[in-house]
Amino acid sequence: MPSYVPHKVIFFGEHAVVYGYPSISSTIDIFSKIQIIPNKYNYLQTPFVQEALKHIGQEKSYVKVDSYIPSGSGLGTSSMVIVGVLMHNRDLRGEALAKAAYEIEYTVQGLGSPIDTTTIVAGGFVMTNGNYGIPLWKISKENKTWNFSNLPGKNMEIFIVYVGPKGSTKEQVEKVRKFMERGRFAKEIMENIGMITREGASAIIRNDIVKIGELMNENHKELKIFGLSNPLIEKVIEIGNKFGYGAKLTGAGGGGSLIILPDKKDLLREKLNELNVKLFETRTTSVGSFFKE
Ligand code: MEV
Repeated sequence: MPSYVPHKVIFFGEHAVVYGYPSISSTIDIFSKIQIIPNKYNYLQTPFVQEALKHIGQEKSYVKVDSYIPSGSGLGTSSMVIVGVLMHNRDLRGEALAKAAYEIEYTVQGLGSPIDTTTIVAGGFVMTNGNYGIPLWKISKENKTWNFSNLPGKNMEIFIVYVGPKGSTKEQVEKVRKFMERGRFAKEIMENIGMITREGASAIIRNDIVKIGELMNENHKELKIFGLSNPLIEKVIEIGNKFGYGAKLTGAGGGGSLIILPDKKDLLREKLNELNVKLFETRTTSVGSFFKE
């Protein structure tokens, strides 16, 4: 019996959320199907998969993932696989599932926030560390706590542009940590991202697409300062700004994916297709992970 797990995007606040600043993420209407089957040929699996299987007492099994989104896309693939495997234990749902999934991600990766795992479990617009919406749960690790809530927002169309593999999330998070250790300047950027994210929450609640787009552009400029962009990303951003309401990288950066709020869709599609990128036209969704009996 398979589980179905959605990809996620981050509208605002990636990287800053690692340091306890707010973020807004959402599930999108692209799901992967995850099945646990016998590991007939003893295939080697990723550490995330191995840990997740161990957690549910099925370390001898194989995890089959049906997905058309490349892994390393910055759209939450490793968190999805962990959540999808853990769901095969029917006692793990909601908060317990989100906590167990984050524990595994943290054990393997050694850093990062629980936003990907919680978003994929809960579905919808998920705000981290903001006093908006319907409270979900909170997760603590070392001296940090992340409070989650579901923002009441209308689902929106988004174009996702995959520009190529990113380095590991760990590498990108470490890169930003080095900036943070160097002093005040990086902290100011994080404060700005925090303000953008809070404004983003009310724009999402009002369904103010123009404002959401503007704030995405501002957030992208801040992320760029941390060296998370590249020339191809900037080319996509330029096109996104011309034919959309706003554009930014989403997730760890350094490659991976961008989100664009589309306006002139035909032109946007045409211009993006001239680049060496993959385009996914989708929507946000209020659906999280589920298990099909
Ligand atoms: C990755 O999807 C988001 C980051 O903020 C890392 C994290 O929160 O764990 C870059």
